[in-house]
Amino acid sequence: MRVVKVQTNTPYDILIERGLIKNAGRLIKNVSGASKVTVITDSNVEKIYAHDVVLSLNENGFNTSLFVFPAGEKSKNLSAVSDMYDHMAEFHMSRKDLVVALGGGVAGDMAGFAASTYMRGIDFVQIPTSLLAQVDSSVGGKTGVDIKQGKNLVGAFHQPILVIIDPNTLKTLPEYYINDGMAEVIKYGCIKDDALFKTLEDKNALEIIDDVIERCVSIKRDVVNRDEKEAGERMLLNFGHTLGHSLEKIYNFEGLSHGQAVAIGMVMITKASEKAGITEKGTLEKIISLCKKYNLPIDDKADIGEIAKTCAGDKKAGGGSVNLVLLKKIGESFTRKTPLSELENFIT
Ligand SMILES: NC(=O)c1ccc[n+]([C@@H]2O[C@H](COP(=O)([O-])OP(=O)(O)OC[C@H]3O[C@@H](n4cnc5c(N)ncnc54)[C@H](O)[C@@H]3O)[C@@H](O)[C@H]2O)c1
Ligand SMILES: [Zn+2]
Repeated sequence: MRVVKVQTNTPYDILIERGLIKNAGRLIKNVSGASKVTVITDSNVEKIYAHDVVLSLNENGFNTSLFVFPAGEKSKNLSAVSDMYDHMAEFHMSRKDLVVALGGGVAGDMAGFAASTYMRGIDFVQIPTSLLAQVDSSVGGKTGVDIKQGKNLVGAFHQPILVIIDPNTLKTLPEYYINDGMAEVIKYGCIKDDALFKTLEDKNALEIIDDVIERCVSIKRDVVNRDEKEAGERMLLNFGHTLGHSLEKIYNFEGLSHGQAVAIGMVMITKASEKAGITEKGTLEKIISLCKKYNLPIDDKADIGEIAKTCAGDKKAGGGSVNLVLLKKIGESFTRKTPLSELENFIT
């Protein structure tokens, strides 16, 4: 089994191994003295994986209940979290009890947020089943929900006590979501790891996905260890996200997936920085080829002026400037505070 240790305020392990989901109960028993467990999952993942997880928890002496919400980002709201509180209270969960988030980033963010606030905070375990959740959202302790004014506007930092990654679950993940997760994988290569980037070029990532997941969570772990609350270095994880987020917004979070928007964002910002002489020549070409290889788009018909304006509108509260994440070359990144007034000029 691969073990990645996270040294945040409350340290925890990320375990990676095929078939691990069937041992969830035993692994959780090692780190938790809870008697009751609520497993929170969505309606798709429930059908495939809830049975094994609940069985394993029961076999290990936990009194287990299941909370299922309709799959999809639309469920990631306060009303669903409120239903979770009701469920946990009616199940008489105490402060010592435990929440298990089983599913993609939506289940993880929402169950984590419910755990961070129920009785002022109880323990939770992440069992991520989408590629995005396995390489990104299950690590780092960001939890939260969307409100009508914007995505992820309400939330808390709440670290899990354990993350259980079973790469076998990716066998049932629709290809669309595999591609989505690959955008984040490419991002890690771009910002921190030219060797990972090269591996993604030379091999088929899906054939060595266990290695790739371990590498990605290790990179995220290192960044989060040094900057748990995003005061500095953690911002590097937003490479491609500033412009990507604007694109998602322009399409009302429906036209493009998050990963597709991030891929286009990485290409756009690198096109600008390479042209400005900040990024080593040839970097853009490498990113474009890799995005294409993993079925990700590299451009979009949306107007660049509108993208910049949407970005500015988004960041106004941040005081007239935006922290752009730029590459020096593949594997080396930095942030540059850019006045919003210069942003449009920079990317056109
Ligand atoms: N907390 C963080 O640091 C962080 C980081 C990145 C993204 N996020 C959040 O993550 C969310 C996106 O995550 P996501 O892409 O995993 O979305 P998701 O949770 O909606 O999962 C995507 C789809 O895949 C299905 N699915 C998941 N695992 C499956 C499996 N093994 N087999 C079959 N179907 C499966 C789900 O039911 C869903 O339909 C967003 O809300 C985003 O804001 C959070
Ligand atoms: Zn992302």
